Amino acid sequence: MRDVKQDNARHAPGERRSCPSSTDPRPLAAFARGAPTLGPDPRRPGRVSLCRASGGLPPVCCPLPHAGDGRGAQEDGAHDDQPGCDRAGGGSLRPSRARPDARDADLRGSRLHAREGARARARLRGRAGGRDRAGRGRHLRRSHPGGEYPGDRDPVRFGRGRNAAGRGLDAVVDGLPDPARAEAPHQDIPRGVPLAVRRGQPTVWLNPHRAPTADGLPTRAVSLADVEAALARWRRFEPLLARLFDELETGRIDSPLRALSEPVARRVLGGAGGTVWVKADHELPVTGCIKARGGVYEVLVYAEALAREAGLLGPREGYARLAEPEARRVFGAHTVAVGSTGNLGFSVGVMARALGFRVEVHMSRDAKAWKKRRLREIGAEVVEHAGDYGSAVAAARTGFQGRPDAHFVDDEDSLDLFLGYATAAFDLRRQLAEAGVTVDRDHPLFVYLPCGVGGAPGGVTLGLKLLFGDAVRCIFVEPVAAPCMLVQLAAGLERTVSVYDVGLDNRTAADGLAVARASMLVARMVRGLIEAVATVSDDALHAWLRDLWHAAGLRLEPSAAAGFAAVRPFLTALPPPNPARATHVVWTTGGALLPEAEFQKALRGSAAEPAAE
Ligand SMILES: Cc1ncc(COP(=O)(O)O)c(C=O)c1O
Repeated sequence: MRDVKQDNARHAPGERRSCPSSTDPRPLAAFARGAPTLGPDPRRPGRVSLCRASGGLPPVCCPLPHAGDGRGAQEDGAHDDQPGCDRAGGGSLRPSRARPDARDADLRGSRLHAREGARARARLRGRAGGRDRAGRGRHLRRSHPGGEYPGDRDPVRFGRGRNAAGRGLDAVVDGLPDPARAEAPHQDIPRGVPLAVRRGQPTVWLNPHRAPTADGLPTRAVSLADVEAALARWRRFEPLLARLFDELETGRIDSPLRALSEPVARRVLGGAGGTVWVKADHELPVTGCIKARGGVYEVLVYAEALAREAGLLGPREGYARLAEPEARRVFGAHTVAVGSTGNLGFSVGVMARALGFRVEVHMSRDAKAWKKRRLREIGAEVVEHAGDYGSAVAAARTGFQGRPDAHFVDDEDSLDLFLGYATAAFDLRRQLAEAGVTVDRDHPLFVYLPCGVGGAPGGVTLGLKLLFGDAVRCIFVEPVAAPCMLVQLAAGLERTVSVYDVGLDNRTAADGLAVARASMLVARMVRGLIEAVATVSDDALHAWLRDLWHAAGLRLEPSAAAGFAAVRPFLTALPPPNPARATHVVWTTGGALLPEAEFQKALRGSAAEPAAE
């Protein structure tokens, strides 16, 4: 939630904070500053949903840029009727420097804020769903033509309003002013993070920073040529990989793209139309999870550099030579280290051990015991840390700094990892083409990606954006207790923010996603690229995990089921114009190698149990 004091300090005394009309020529400073509020959906004219405008203030109805073209076109239409539009209590439009008397203004402002917030909430409830017996606003559910679905038990909060034409609207009503924040205006809560997120409620956060791909692609970071070079490296290593791993006949690490059957797809979509595919990285050979795309790739980069340095890769040498004793001697004098929730450690560990490296995996003491056991079985040294995943990474990073005989795979800050993930986009493009799926402006592709520290979904997103441009829409999915990317993007990139900073505890059954602080490298990369971040509850993960096992035979770990739990909430918040023409790809990121006992436990839905056994 935006800091009340700053917002109020931005208003000159007596300034009328009005709702700008659609013809208001003033720049959308409030929107650009990026705090949440309720207003016309920038992507869908006539719709209302969570967007970010002048934060911390009552809901504002602003003309917002169309994200469709992202060029800041003004929204037309009589938006007074939109739920949450408040002509009397609109948002700040002109940023101004904090005044010396800002503290008093803060306090005055916070009271004003609380009153206006209460009025706005009451107004919204009146339109959105009436009142319950206790006088609290209730949130209407949409009827789901597709029938009961596992996420039904914890939907995003929806409201129902009317647009100017009198038609019903669906509204994501999160992001309203936060009374607690108003009562404690000086607490150091990061701004911009919607109240619903901070309360741990499933939420769809529509990314106000999304820009047309051409503008949103990071300018100085990764280009298509970089991703193509990474793909070429994978290809060079195929003979070696085929030699090292029996299951890799071609030496290619890729997963199938599976179509979901009609009835299951209908449940996932809630009758919205379109087709649903599963990008089955839970079946990825060698490691059974998406992290192999980055982890294996980075080990190959390191091995290639060492081998060249040692003269093992002359112009005529094939890469299969790196499985020979001579190369193993070179690698054996080096250590590959990584901090991990488990799956990255396993991916790095399997590849590095296969080449003969020493391996150290730094993990939180809370990480799954079976993941540690499995790492030890492949000959990796597991170092346990008292804190969470982030502190394990930090400790390992420090420990390996400056060591010439070691390479630290930095899950939070590695471009090589990122490039490895990004190459997955080429596989998906090929598979979609083979399946006869058209992806273009009229046939959008929606991709749902579970997000932990951000590298895997971020890399895939970048790769897809480079290949499909604006035709692809990527949605990150995080657990309600660990929405680190949402929190970071919503709060802004000026400083790092953790989920603890907003009162969440990072405890989730989705251990691969139990990350308190997102990678800043990734946050910067994806800020302009992703469509939304959805948060989902552990109960929803377990429900989908069960459903997909029984109905589709997908054997997933809880993290990997996250994408399914997000589809309906996302489509309700931001329905595509022609749903029947949309293709949805849910990325299932891990699970095939889950021990049977663990899988059975996940099926029983023992949510958020302590990870250590
Ligand atoms: C199964 C699974 N899915 C998704 C992710 C998320 O990847 P990232 O942490 O790169 O965002 C992880 C991370 O370990 C994972 O193990």
